[in-house]
Amino acid sequence: MCGIVGAVVAAGDVLPEVLTGLRTLEYRGYDSAGVAVLAGGLLEVRRKSGRISALEAELADRRLPSALQAVGHTRWATHGKPADRNAHPHRDQDNQVVVVHNGIIENFVELRAELEKEGVAFSSETDTEVIANLLARQLRATGDLHAALLGAIDQLHGAYALVAMAVGHEGEMVAARRDSPLVLGVGAGGRFAASDMPALLHLTRDFLFLENGETCVFTAESHRIFDAAGKLVSRDLAKCDWTPEQAEKGGYPHFMLKEIEEQPDVLARTAFDRFRDSTGDVTFEDGFQLTDEDLRRAARLRFMAMGTSFHAALLGQQMTAELARLPGETLNASEFLYSPRLAEETAITVIISQSGETADSLRAMREVKERGGTVIGICNVQGSTLAREADHLILTHCGPEVGVASTKAFVGQLTALYLLAIRIGRAREELDLDKGLALLRDLRAVRTQLDPLFEPETHVAIRAAADFLAPKSSCLFLGRGLLFPVALEGALKLKEISYIHAEGYPAGEMKHGPIALIDTDFPVVVVATPGRAYKKTLSNMEEVKARGGRLLAVACREDEKVAALADFILPVPSVPELLAPIVNVVPLQLLAYETALVLGCDIDQPRNLAKSVTVE
Ligand code: M6R
Repeated sequence: MCGIVGAVVAAGDVLPEVLTGLRTLEYRGYDSAGVAVLAGGLLEVRRKSGRISALEAELADRRLPSALQAVGHTRWATHGKPADRNAHPHRDQDNQVVVVHNGIIENFVELRAELEKEGVAFSSETDTEVIANLLARQLRATGDLHAALLGAIDQLHGAYALVAMAVGHEGEMVAARRDSPLVLGVGAGGRFAASDMPALLHLTRDFLFLENGETCVFTAESHRIFDAAGKLVSRDLAKCDWTPEQAEKGGYPHFMLKEIEEQPDVLARTAFDRFRDSTGDVTFEDGFQLTDEDLRRAARLRFMAMGTSFHAALLGQQMTAELARLPGETLNASEFLYSPRLAEETAITVIISQSGETADSLRAMREVKERGGTVIGICNVQGSTLAREADHLILTHCGPEVGVASTKAFVGQLTALYLLAIRIGRAREELDLDKGLALLRDLRAVRTQLDPLFEPETHVAIRAAADFLAPKSSCLFLGRGLLFPVALEGALKLKEISYIHAEGYPAGEMKHGPIALIDTDFPVVVVATPGRAYKKTLSNMEEVKARGGRLLAVACREDEKVAALADFILPVPSVPELLAPIVNVVPLQLLAYETALVLGCDIDQPRNLAKSVTVE
């Protein structure tokens, strides 16, 4: 998705800071990049399709003047193909106003036609150029930049986060958001706006989060936020506990590898301050206000999410059913609107999202709330829309996840869901103190049990499996029970970064169709650690073997039965069954990573993908 940076400072040249912010936003996925400065009463723009390095080469050729205010943008094409002319920033035809924008303006065709009738000539196919011209028209009428912004956004239907500046309004910038994220950073020598916090961590740790419909006027020394009705809003600064280093590669070749290896710490940070071994109580922070009585009253739990978070949701449902005996359902958030309307008063809905900005998940959350339901958000980004709008919040403490392929967020989510299941189980008296304590001790132990997964011996085994997998065009992932969502997640990781077609299936389903794919050399990855479905999974492996298929198995190191069947073993330590997904997913993440590496794929920014999908 597009990334935005806007900055105004009291002294110095702000452009390098904007470029640093843009580089941090690269992870969101983009096809072109651009910047604009306002200096000496002139707006100047440089923009290029391709990577930020192409923009930097352009800036080296055609230098921009030193400036106190600038905007920058990474574009993920929606209206108009990736090309220099479609890259942001966009100006009005008289070069008086410049805008960077993330989102989709649904009525842009009508607006563009109306402006064309007035004689406006467009130089791009984007919806954003329409915004720049609307803003310029309003500015001519009002002479006030904020009033012009209000007038312009009043005509927009759709989603936007935008930052703008204008000739004649030096030192001032305006911003607006509706259904696309935007944060405001407050620093000693300036004010900054961006699509997310990591883009500004090199400038400040103090943030304000714009709510839907709000607008903002900011200078280097001050800022004013207005609600949708244009009323001044007072808002406290929030301190971000992420560091700039956490958003850097730190010596790793890829963010994905760094984030996979951070998972033991993610588990510890997400869980260990939330329980005491002595009392067995799980407590979440102030954002979570549900009482034991509330949890006892719930008749069912609903889980919703997208992508990797959806796979975590499937596991959350199973954990809660098991530990709290509470019936549940899991829905892909984008399907919720089309599902039957059930009573919300007796249900609790858990919405899971790493970014807290996924449009499908936010839409589902708002719909649940409108129907009178209660929402618990499980989210990694403090201040994100989900974190702010959910009725109750459990933060996962993963630190910024930059790789487009989600890894550590999954482990953070599973950890939070496990704690939630114990909390509900204890509240509903389905778990006694001893059982609750034992479950928490199990979780604590997993932190060190993950260590062998990062040792050279494991790496050798995974690399051999990746060498085998890399030339294949298709692959099945199988698992049963708690291991089925792990198979889904393994398949998603492989397909999104290596582009090898991969499908996850419940192992029992294989005989009902997918088995037709299996012939000599066809790869099947089976998640085959001990548990209630172990024996049946072994039978499924036999079925693959009998047809000449090649088996790659996630299995316990000492498991001779699996070793006798599989061509490749991805070894994992033995842990309690409910926690096995946390451990078993790691070799599958590494398998995808190593396979993509063999194939020379762009691991952190796979084609067509965006880190945070902020459109439905
Ligand atoms: O930020 P979210 O957790 O809401 O994101 C959901 C999905 O877009 C995300 O998990 C996506 O599927 C990843 N690329 C998976 O690796």
